[in-house]
Amino acid sequence: MSKKLALITGASSGIGKSFAEQLAEEGYNLILVARRKQKLEDLAEKLSKKFSTESQIVVADLSELEQIKNVVDIINSLDSIDILINNAGFGLSSGFAEGNAERQLDMVKVHVLASFSLCRAVIPVMLKRNEGLVINVSSISGLMIKYGDVTYTATKSFLIVLSEALQEELRKTDIRIHALCPGMTYSEFHDTEDLENFDRSSVPKGLWMSSSEVVRKSLKAARKGKTVYVPGFLNRVSLFFSNIALIRKISQWFIERKN
Ligand SMILES: NC(=O)c1ccc[n+]([C@@H]2O[C@H](COP(=O)([O-])OP(=O)(O)OC[C@H]3O[C@@H](n4cnc5c(N)ncnc54)[C@H](OP(=O)(O)O)[C@@H]3O)[C@@H](O)[C@H]2O)c1
Repeated sequence: MSKKLALITGASSGIGKSFAEQLAEEGYNLILVARRKQKLEDLAEKLSKKFSTESQIVVADLSELEQIKNVVDIINSLDSIDILINNAGFGLSSGFAEGNAERQLDMVKVHVLASFSLCRAVIPVMLKRNEGLVINVSSISGLMIKYGDVTYTATKSFLIVLSEALQEELRKTDIRIHALCPGMTYSEFHDTEDLENFDRSSVPKGLWMSSSEVVRKSLKAARKGKTVYVPGFLNRVSLFFSNIALIRKISQWFIERKN
């Protein structure tokens, strides 16, 4: 029997790389997508030696529409695919009005347009066999609208709503949609130019998780049928308290409006 197949975007580092490693260990073949070819090649070679994984490398900048289309074409050419992981992403630190408009638009393309397009391509292929798993890597910021960068929060919220609505439409099938909402995770995310002023030590150590732990918990929750998932007890606690703070603000606003 041929091996199962997973396509992972943003597979060159962090959470995407951990998904590749854990799925390779489970026996999947992989399609690895990202911009840094060398990193993808090194990963593919390592997984081939360790688990006999066959990997197809796709070098694509998902902020370019033509390159999103190339990945869509690859999916359209497949007879079957078992897992799609829309993971590629990055952060921004400036405010909405003063931030770099081009980078904000890139973010909309990478987080929203690419993920939407790959979901749209993969679901008809999965429906042929009535099974599959799609993981959209969102963020805890997508559930905490009050506290994040506007573009990041809005694009990550889109992924949560997309996942919930799509799962509802597919409820009579064996296709599972899972929005993974990590909190602070060790990866290259905070090392990019876009977040150059970020200081990791400003966040308490206990709130950080490793990429491999996030992925292990996500795969387990996804297979149990959890549609929206926040890994880590402390992340869930902080989400709970931030929502209480939000509810308090909203009630305060209603009371002030009435008076
Ligand atoms: N780390 C955190 O604290 C955290 C928290 C919540 C959510 N997340 C989410 O988790 C996902 C993975 O991030 P990470 O933490 O693993 O960070 P990371 O180590 O920086 O990985 C990001 C991945 O996305 C790829 N990528 C970025 N821009 C791309 C583009 N234009 N086209 C194609 N690929 C692109 C990168 O590959 P190339 O540079 O090779 O293209 C890299 O493989 C992101 O969606 C992020 O928003 C992270």
